[in-house]
Amino acid sequence: MGVNLQILGKTAIPRLAPKLNISPEIPESRFLYDMNMKEFDEVVRNVERVLKVILEKADVSWWDIYLNSDIGMERIALAKEMELDDQDIVLDVGCGRGYFSIAAATESKSVVGIDLMNGSGRANWWSNFYEGMHELNLADRVSGLKSSATLTPFKSSRFTVAAVVHSIRNFQNKETIKAALKEMKRVVVKGGSVILAENIPTPRNKAQEAHLQMFNCKVKYATGELSYPQKEELIEWFQKVGFRGIEIKELNYNLIATPPLFCLDYYLSPLSEIQKHNARAAYDQAISMIHTWGETSPPTLLVKARK
Ligand SMILES: C[S@@+](CC[C@H](N)C(=O)[O-])C[C@H]1O[C@@H](n2cnc3c(N)ncnc32)[C@H](O)[C@@H]1O
Repeated sequence: MGVNLQILGKTAIPRLAPKLNISPEIPESRFLYDMNMKEFDEVVRNVERVLKVILEKADVSWWDIYLNSDIGMERIALAKEMELDDQDIVLDVGCGRGYFSIAAATESKSVVGIDLMNGSGRANWWSNFYEGMHELNLADRVSGLKSSATLTPFKSSRFTVAAVVHSIRNFQNKETIKAALKEMKRVVVKGGSVILAENIPTPRNKAQEAHLQMFNCKVKYATGELSYPQKEELIEWFQKVGFRGIEIKELNYNLIATPPLFCLDYYLSPLSEIQKHNARAAYDQAISMIHTWGETSPPTLLVKARK
């Protein structure tokens, strides 16, 4: 069972359960945040067990899992908002586990995902990526490649759309984001689209406030995460790369579409005692907010420009 789609079971199973007449014992997502590794592993094993049963015996497909998960629902909604064409050839920049690549493949001719893949836990990354695509029968239309967003191996005008979805948060810095936009512009055809989708730091309800409190802890105390960009900053980056006539949409799906799960304990050792104290206080506050209100992603800004 491929790990990438298995992860989606956490939010898909509770949604499918009433239709399947089952009552699986899976804790709500809000309670995953302060679990220890043993408890977390137990949830993962439980999700795996339920998935195995419903995939084998209940006429459920991997597509049902993807389409009923918060992440799948949000990526599909984003792909639709992008107004892709069934002849589009899409570059998915910073594709990660391929959740947006899957959505883009439902609306286009083919997708190439690229990712730097230099983080921890990246062993078997592409085999997991392809396993997910096989499970969804997309392997003939979606491929993945290790590449930096700022220097890709593609010739100019190779794609009709280049999209970067919930990925700039993991780019090295703002210069990398601008360089990536420039590269995306180079590889799309004249008249093609460069599209960026990222959460913005403007929560619209308590669950989104809780998300932001935890995400900001992640930015401050973990590694590899940039703050969510302000709308004005995003527009400025597009303008600096030479785009005019930029289209912007603010989309508020209020789903668990980019969960900022992380364990603070891994990052505490280099901190002074006072920093540790402050980090724990901020993290505990985030946990308490998530327990009270749940956690959903703040609105996503979709920025689209034509070459
Ligand atoms: C949050 S994940 C991707 C989310 C994914 N697009 C989705 O729809 O679920 C961000 C990804 O950006 C990748 N990344 C970070 N810097 C990059 C760079 N300079 N070039 C390409 N990928 C990069 C990371 O390796 C990570 O897999």
